[in-house]
Order: sequence, then C-alpha cells, then structure tokens
Amino acid sequence: MRRATTIAKVRAAVRAWRRAGERVVFVPTMGNLHEGHMSLIDAAREHGERFIASIFVNPMQFGPNEDFAHYPRTPERDEHMLRAAGCDLMFMPDVEEMYPNGMGHATRVEVPELSDILCGEFRPGHFQGVTTVVARLLHICEPDAAVFGEKDFQQLTLIRRMVSDLCMSVRIIAAPTVRAADGLAMSSRNQYLTDAERARAPAVYRALRAAASRLAAGGREYDDIERQGLRALESEGFRVDYFAIKRAEDLGPPTPESRHLVVLTAAHLGKARLIDNVQVTL
Ligand code: PAJ
Repeated sequence: MRRATTIAKVRAAVRAWRRAGERVVFVPTMGNLHEGHMSLIDAAREHGERFIASIFVNPMQFGPNEDFAHYPRTPERDEHMLRAAGCDLMFMPDVEEMYPNGMGHATRVEVPELSDILCGEFRPGHFQGVTTVVARLLHICEPDAAVFGEKDFQQLTLIRRMVSDLCMSVRIIAAPTVRAADGLAMSSRNQYLTDAERARAPAVYRALRAAASRLAAGGREYDDIERQGLRALESEGFRVDYFAIKRAEDLGPPTPESRHLVVLTAAHLGKARLIDNVQVTL
C-alpha cells in the first residue's frame, strides 16, 4: 500500500491505474477505523481493481463547540488495517493541503434544504463542511465509484444529490450499517461512552426497530410513532435531538403512498452523540 499526503501524489497514482485500464474505488473516512469502515472497503472490491481510502479529520464539518480537537486519531493503526484489507493507497492530507487558502476562504459546496433538516438543524454548517470536503476529495481522486455507509443516511442522501446536481461522473455505492452484537451501530464516537452508558446505548437501535415494526405492520400515525421513539430514548436517559420518519428517497415527509421509509434518530448519551437509522420497505 502506498501512502500519500499530497494531491499530486494521488493524481499520479490514479493516472497510472487509469492508463492500465483499472477502475478506481474511493472510500473517504476520518480515520480511527473500525469494522464499519472496513466493510466499505469490502463493498468497494466489487466495483473496481484499485482502492483509495482517505483519512482526514475535516475541521470544516465540526462546529465551534464540537469534538474536532478530541476526535480520536489513530493513524498507525489505521494504516495497518488498510494495508491488511488490500487497500492500494492511503491519502492522509493535512489541513493546509486540503484548504491551501485557509478554510474560511475556500469555495464551498452546499446542498440546500437537505442540509438544514435533521442533523443539519442541530449542527449548523456541518453538512456544508461534508459536501465541500467530499467534492474536493472526489475531484482529487477522480474515482469510478465511491462508497459511503448507510449509518450516515442523511450524509449519503446529500452526497447523491450533490453528485447529481454537479454532474459528477462518480457512482455512489451505499454499504449497510455494521453493528455490535447488541445492535449498537459501530462509530468512533462510541468511545466517548462510559461502561454504564455503553450498556444503555443499544436502546437506540431498539427504538428504531420498534418504530420500523409499527410501520411495517401498517401503522401510519407517524407523529405517534415518532413520539413513542423519543419517549423510549428519554426514559433511558438520552437527550434526543430528533426521532423522525422520512421518505427514504429524499428525506421528504412520508405520505400514505410512500413505499420506502427510513426512521432516523440522533441522541446524546453522556459525552457521545449517537446517530442511527433503519429503513422500512412496505
Ligand atoms: P467517518 O465518520 O469516518 O465515516 C466514514 C464512512 O464510514 C462514512 O461513509 C460512514 O457512513 C461509514 N461508516 C461509519 N460507521 C459505519 C458503520 N457502523 N457501518 C457502516 N458504515 C459506517 O462520514 C465521515 O467520516 C465524514 O463525514 C466524511 C464522509 C469522511 C467526510 O469528511
């Protein structure tokens, strides 16, 4: 596995692969890799011959009171895991390489409306930071395909929309959420949980599944299902940002005709903010 910290080095590698007729698949991450991230590399294998993973804790997507400074950084371990998984290139730029004119002066990419709902309502500017860095990374790597986790369902929806709106020729692949045995979705932020909180954390997936079951059984009283989910989490000691039922295609409000729904939640437990979602096909 090669290691690049500069855009020029990534471009040179990609050019050579292209000339050899190899397809390039890209997996963007913020590092501190876990099984969820590694499943994206596995999913990438079906779509090409060469694999790039990026590791960049993107300051633009963190709010002023969020965990940018404390976000777990484990570059040696990440490198080892990527090499073992058969990744060809690890791109680990510094902030200056990604934002050479300073973050505050960089051209930004914003998907309207979708960026302002759900997590966007509670993390203003977050998704603009995500779409801006992902647009830059896609232009740097020019991959045939890029893989994103369904764990971050709103992020995945926004990226599909950006790629379509900006006529980018990359194929976006969605990979299912990887969970611990008790249902908790894997996340770097799970490390912020104390042992007692970690024991309560599976309540998130339980509440989502309970809502999904009501929908699958024909329930259409969306407000009541959302309220029940919110209360279930509050009674376990969570501070809930939202518990919401949306159309899976575009995160719009569900209608009785909607066949593909998604139940999404974001909830604080101690120092951790956990997000998760479950899709329902009717
Ligand atoms: P990060 O949180 O490191 O996640 C990188 C990718 O891994 C995302 O596509 C995310 O959805 C996926 N992922 C995380 N946990 C997962 C799990 N349990 N199961 C399946 N996939 C999982 O998301 C980001 O970084 C950043 O916003 C990024 C896209 C890299 C832009 O900075």
